[in-house]
Amino acid sequence: MCGIIGILGKADVTSVLVEALRRLEYRGYDSAGVAVVSDGTLARRRAVGKLSELEAVLEATPISGKSGIGHTRWATHGAPNEANAHPHRAGPVAVVHNGIIENFQALRAELVAKGRVFTSETDTEVVAQLCADYLAQGLSPQAAVAQSLARFEGAFALAYLFDGEDDLMIGARRGSPLALGHGEGEMYLGSDAMALAPVTNRITYLEEGDWVVLSRAGGQIYDALGNAVSRAETVVNLDAMQVDKGNHRHFMTKEIFEQPSVMALAMSHYLTSDHNQITVPEGAPDFTKFDRLVLVACGTAFYACHVAKYWFEQVAGVPVEIDVASEFRYRAPPIGPRDAVILVSQSGETADTLAALRYVKGKAGQVIAVINAPESSIAREADLALPIKAGVEVSVASSKAFTCQLTVFAALAILAARQRGLLDAAAEKAMIEVLVQAPRVLDEALKAEPQMAEAARELAKARDILFLGRGPLYPLALEGALKLKELSYIHAEGYASGELKHGPIALIDESVPVICFAPVDDLFDKTVSNMQEVMARGGKVLLVSDAEGIKRAGEGTWATIELPACDPFIAPMVYAIPAQLLAYHTATEKGTDVDQPRNLAKSVTVE
Ligand code: F6R
Repeated sequence: MCGIIGILGKADVTSVLVEALRRLEYRGYDSAGVAVVSDGTLARRRAVGKLSELEAVLEATPISGKSGIGHTRWATHGAPNEANAHPHRAGPVAVVHNGIIENFQALRAELVAKGRVFTSETDTEVVAQLCADYLAQGLSPQAAVAQSLARFEGAFALAYLFDGEDDLMIGARRGSPLALGHGEGEMYLGSDAMALAPVTNRITYLEEGDWVVLSRAGGQIYDALGNAVSRAETVVNLDAMQVDKGNHRHFMTKEIFEQPSVMALAMSHYLTSDHNQITVPEGAPDFTKFDRLVLVACGTAFYACHVAKYWFEQVAGVPVEIDVASEFRYRAPPIGPRDAVILVSQSGETADTLAALRYVKGKAGQVIAVINAPESSIAREADLALPIKAGVEVSVASSKAFTCQLTVFAALAILAARQRGLLDAAAEKAMIEVLVQAPRVLDEALKAEPQMAEAARELAKARDILFLGRGPLYPLALEGALKLKELSYIHAEGYASGELKHGPIALIDESVPVICFAPVDDLFDKTVSNMQEVMARGGKVLLVSDAEGIKRAGEGTWATIELPACDPFIAPMVYAIPAQLLAYHTATEKGTDVDQPRNLAKSVTVE
């Protein structure tokens, strides 16, 4: 999940490399580095921490060159220190890498036995050392890379630069994405098109196993067998890649507040313009053909699947199985032609979700991706990619992608119910009328931000926090706890309200805030009973409900947050707002780095 960039340019590329790395920092920010060919010789600068540290190093000890590679790291093998920062160099070769070379220990032992001296603890250094070893045996850079690639096990996107080679760069991908950018007399490599957005919108996505030899005049792509191949060039929409914070202090709040508009955009993609019907996207599933849906994802995207399970089962009567991709991919679940599998991913590059997709491909009746990044590996490998239309999500913690994923799932659940004869035209229209209210109700919910900010002042003092919810609000309790953990570093857990008395209630005392998500629905009174059980044991309850719910719940809560009343169907979308903003304000209260929380990365391309 590191970010990589490579440029064969016409002028000094150092500042362009740094600018591209800024756009890739979402992939990791443990360290950063650049290497350039300067007067025919490799020169590099590296620094631990955010990109600003590298900028300071470059200012103090500048380098320049017309060919360069850069890297922003999310540490896997070896601590985040300068020695482990990329680019890694061995003699005449410098390399940046995203992924994991799984057999690095065996290769390292082999190279050490030959007298090669390693200077880092990373798996990546073997890439540079092995290439240098082949070069020392007299191979050309191209042959040295080709031989090396055949020896690697694991996942990688790589960019190589060579001493004395001002017009040569070699890239390769297996398991990790790599895009090739075409300029006017310039060529680029990048982990994604977004990194290249300021310099080109002409992109070629390398396919699995491809590698490419670049000069300023163009690139020759080879497949895994070494055959010269050509891959399509696409023009990507750069408007969709504009990334700035607007008037917000953080990307996170910008993205939270964008939700009503991006959800409306997502809806327009899945609804007829008169809002009478769900549109059936080309190739959309026929839900009568499936006995079961299997929904697979990671993290927040998984919680979207968890909400969708309630919707598909309750609205459309379809049995649904859900699993996190890291478990699903290795438990060898039986999958057959009467199963439709839906993979959900904002980035479309999450390694476990991609592996789950590859596991079900050819077994399931249909493999569908619900995806934000339309050009991503998951989007391209699925039978059908359904866009969530959230736009670029920069903040590492997901927010608008979640509610847009829910929007797509809500539309699919209604579609499935219609196809399976559970909704006639009038009932479908009535459900859509409820769904299209969601952006407006979220807009209203955002107005409760001051109450959330105030509650957060108290939450920031806690060591542990519990979230409770029932039915489709149970996944929101899990999402609230995840958001709080990752943004504020406070320990938090989400529980199904009814499960509390089966163990977790032992945690309750006056120091543990308990946040109850309780919209007024069929389960409201049961949730209130669970809340009473907490209060009877001295627990501090923060009730999140609407005016009626707050009134019905009565006295005894520590605090309340009043959200607009809404139809229970869209409540999981509306309650995403307090799940996100409570975490956001607790984090700002504690002074943590909201957009780039420690240890995390936006795109998890390692398993
Ligand atoms: C949490 C968060 C992560 C992602 C997860 C999946 O705020 O952002 O849990 O949801 O890493 O990422 P995608 O959706 O890109 O597959």
